[in-house]
This record gives sequence, structure tokens and C-alpha cells, in this order.
Amino acid sequence: MNAAVRLICVFLACLQVARAEVSAYDQIAFSNVGFAGTYTPVKKFSNIDADDCSCEVGDPQWFSGTNAPVSSYLSVHFRGPLKLHQFAYYDSPSFDVSSSASSSDFTRRAYYNASAQVGENVTFLTAAGDSSKCLGKALTYAGSDGTSKASSATLLQDNNYISSDEEFIIFSNVSCPKSGVGKGCGYYRQGIPAYYGFGGVTKMFLFDFEMPRETQSNSSSIEFYDLPAIWLLNDHIPRTAQYPTNPNCSCWASGCGEFDIFEAMNGTERDHFYSTFHTFQGIEYLGTGIQSYGYIPRDTRNAMRGGAIFDSTGNVITFLSNATKFDSSLSYNDIHSILSAIPSNETYSSKLMSISATAPSTTSKSSGFSLTTSANGLWYYLFTAVTALAQVFVI
Ligand SMILES: *[C@@H]1O[C@H](CO)[C@@H](O)[C@H](O)[C@H]1NC(C)=O
Ligand SMILES: *[C@@H]1O[C@H](CO)[C@@H](O)[C@H](O)[C@H]1NC(C)=O
Ligand SMILES: *[C@@H]1O[C@H](CO)[C@@H](O)[C@H](O)[C@H]1NC(C)=O
Ligand SMILES: *[C@@H]1O[C@H](CO)[C@@H](O)[C@H](O)[C@H]1NC(C)=O
Ligand SMILES: *[C@@H]1O[C@H](CO)[C@@H](O)[C@H](O)[C@H]1NC(C)=O
Ligand SMILES: *[C@@H]1O[C@H](CO)[C@@H](O)[C@H](O)[C@H]1NC(C)=O
Ligand SMILES: *[C@@H]1O[C@H](CO)[C@@H](O)[C@H](O)[C@H]1NC(C)=O
Ligand SMILES: *[C@@H]1O[C@H](CO)[C@@H](O)[C@H](O)[C@H]1NC(C)=O
Repeated sequence: MNAAVRLICVFLACLQVARAEVSAYDQIAFSNVGFAGTYTPVKKFSNIDADDCSCEVGDPQWFSGTNAPVSSYLSVHFRGPLKLHQFAYYDSPSFDVSSSASSSDFTRRAYYNASAQVGENVTFLTAAGDSSKCLGKALTYAGSDGTSKASSATLLQDNNYISSDEEFIIFSNVSCPKSGVGKGCGYYRQGIPAYYGFGGVTKMFLFDFEMPRETQSNSSSIEFYDLPAIWLLNDHIPRTAQYPTNPNCSCWASGCGEFDIFEAMNGTERDHFYSTFHTFQGIEYLGTGIQSYGYIPRDTRNAMRGGAIFDSTGNVITFLSNATKFDSSLSYNDIHSILSAIPSNETYSSKLMSISATAPSTTSKSSGFSLTTSANGLWYYLFTAVTALAQVFVI
């Protein structure tokens, strides 16, 4: 820590420096998370079983404040190769990772334990339902293997394993109200089991999991070969369409929120977990997102424990620490002993840009799609509206 390398630079220059020095850390921290903006919710699907299936979007919805838009209800997504041993979700009235005086305890509000077959406030869903040209497969309850279809809520079995490309999702057990734009869960696909994700500005997700090396051989039919991930989505996304062919069929492309906690990005870096915000906070390309330029190493042989903390002041930390525990309440000191038990104690920090919430722009691109503005009131942030300096601290 004495030999601190400290870089302060304007955003673009900083990216270049940081990219060249990408290396392994035990925690990744983002600060200044949250901004004021809008996204367009889905208003209606038409002919979802036909070739001319389409989706209509509603008026832009505003979000603002600390951690926004990731301060909304989030569904928790898992992609193999993966085994999930434990999962927990916590909230807190106030938590500041750097000040015990302004921190209250985190209280566990959801828990899954594979070996004990305990499931509290969790519902496992997977996309094993009817297929639609524009929406993809509908959500169903997941069977005990995580990927088959069940007729009612089912706990994942002990020693569960999903392979490359296979996915399941955890929601809370709180049922959604009726579907409709502006209602609690927004407009959603008919006939799906619809539950809220996990809410709150200040929250924490913990995982005890394995991401072993894929054993089946690679083929062109596998899109994410040996590229496991754990990530969070605005829970409206999976209830409409997680992988739509038309961007209007989910609020993702208009920036309602995604945060990738541990994600292996590509074959060359399959043992590196990156953390990424896919929001429009200071960037134009949603698909690229605001990615950490450091990574957390993936252990393919042992169970890993860690998670993501969203504090009340816009700090978001992802970490792996064997000291992670899943107690029903975790204090500031507990969290600090979890974080400080990481052997090398290195943190990669990146400050998100402060952006102006008053600058309507012309055109913006997101992953693969081009969205035009104005007509329907969609608007985005100009790169030039950036006011803050980005900072990279390598401690
Ligand atoms: C949950 O699982 C872990 C191991 O995965 C086990 O050690 C622990 O005792 C279990 N906890 C409860 C409350 O059942
Ligand atoms: C949801 O989970 C909580 C915690 O386990 C439990 O007390 C409650 O009964 C569950 N509600 C439903 C509707 O299953
Ligand atoms: C379950 O999670 C939901 C979503 O965050 C939360 O509103 C609810 O209070 C939780 N239930 C319990 C029993 O903690
Ligand atoms: C798996 O195969 C695909 C194409 O079939 C290729 O793009 C990818 O790089 C391969 N991955 C690995 C880890 O070999
Ligand atoms: C998306 O919705 C907007 C507004 O309703 C519409 O103008 C646009 O054509 C739609 N795009 C697609 C690809 O359907
Ligand atoms: C793999 O992903 C990392 C992180 O996004 C990126 O820096 C690197 O350029 C990618 N490598 C390839 C070969 O695409
Ligand atoms: C974490 O614990 C596992 C056993 O569960 C062990 O094999 C691994 O080496 C530990 N990792 C670190 C970094 O201490
Ligand atoms: C890690 O950092 C914490 C807090 O800065 C410190 O208390 C702890 O001693 C450090 N641990 C190691 C192994 O350096």
C-alpha cells in the first residue's frame, strides 16, 4: 500500500492507462453510483406467437438517486458452469462502507442453502416456457435441476450443477400485482410466475458457489463456453424478455439497469471475473457498459464466497473472500472483517462519472441496436455533459 500508484486523469485518458495495466484484485469498487435518468417501459406485446410479433413502449419513466437505476428491484441471474451452495440477500436502513458511525446492520431478507435445503423468500425461475419470435422463451418455475420446468416453486437440489449456457434466476417470494405499465411489476408476459426481485437502495447479495471448468467439449452451438456469470437485472427485464429480438420488448436497451457481479467475458479471459454496470451513467454504449478494468480471479477448483454490496452513498463493491458468512444479521465490523480477510487486500477502485441530468441528446447506440430519440421522449446523455474526473486508485 505504500507503493501506491495513483492516477488521476480525465476519463478517456484514464481508460487507456488503466486498460494497459489490467490486473487481478480481490475487490472491485465503484463510487458515485446513481444518477437521474429515464427508461422506457414495455407497454404492450402484440401477436407474440406469430411472425409479426411486436412490442410497444410506454412513456419514459424517471429514476434518480443513490445507486439508481440499480436501486430498483433486481432479479439475480446465474449462468453455468456453476454450482450454487448458498445465496443471501440483505438490506439495511443505512450503510456506508467507509464510516461505521453512519452504518446500521445488514439484515438477511432472503436465503438459500443447498445442503440444508433451506429456502427463505426465494423463488427459482428459468426460461423453459413457450417460445416467441420476439420475446424468446417464457419464464417458468425451475425444477430442482435449475433448468427444467416445474409446475410450482421448487428448491434447487443439493449439489446442483448447470453447464455452459444454462441459466436460472432467483426472485423473492412476493407475488407481483396484475400486469400493467405503471403497476408494481410493470407490464409482463401473461401466464408466467411473476414475483418481485430484491429491492432497496442499500442492499447486499452474497454467494457461496463453484464455477468449475466446463467438462463437455466446445461446439458452435454453445454461445458462452466455460463463461460463467452471476448478474443482476432490473426485474422487469426477465418478466418481459431477457433475450428479445426487438429491443422494445424489454426495458434493458433503454437503460433500466443491469449490474454484472462476477462475469467471465471471453475465452481468453475465462478465469477473470469482471464487474460491469450496463446503465447510461456517463456512457453512450450500454452494451459495453462501465466495466472494471481490474478483475477478480476465478478459482475453478474450490468453492468461492463473496458478493456485491450497494451502500447508501453510491459505493458498490464486489469481492471474493473466504471469510464471507451468511448470518441473519451482519454488522459494519462483520463486513469489514469479511473484506479485510482477503489475503492481499488489494482494491481496484473506479469512480463513475457525475453526469448532467438536463442534457437531451440526439442519437444513442446500445448493444447492437440504434435507438433514436425525441419522438417518443427517449433521451440520453451527451458525453460532453460529463463534469467529473474519473479516478483510478491502485492501492
Ligand atoms: C448451509 O450450507 C453450508 C455449506 O454449504 C453449511 O456449512 C451450513 O451449515 C449450512 N447452514 C445452514 C443454516 O443450514
Ligand atoms: C416468503 O418467505 C418468507 C421467509 O421464508 C416466509 O415467512 C413467507 O411465508 C413466504 N411467503 C410465501 C408467500 O411463500
Ligand atoms: C422478501 O424480499 C422482498 C423483496 O426485496 C422484500 O420486500 C420482503 O420484505 C422480503 N420478505 C421477507 C420475509 O423478508
Ligand atoms: C468455443 O467455440 C466457439 C465457436 O464454436 C469459439 O468462438 C470459442 O472461442 C470457443 N471457446 C473456447 C474456450 O475454446
Ligand atoms: C419501438 O417503439 C417505438 C415507439 O413506440 C417505435 O417508434 C419503434 O419503431 C419501435 N421499434 C421497433 C424495432 O419495433
Ligand atoms: C476479453 O474481455 C476483457 C474484459 O472485457 C477485454 O479487456 C479483452 O479485450 C477481451 N479479450 C478478447 C480477446 O476479446
Ligand atoms: C478458500 O476456501 C477453499 C475451501 O473452501 C480453499 O480451497 C481455498 O484455497 C480458499 N481460498 C483462499 C484464497 O484462501
Ligand atoms: C486489509 O485492510 C484492512 C483495512 O484497511 C486492514 O485493517 C487489514 O489489516 C488489511 N489486511 C491485510 C492482510 O493487509
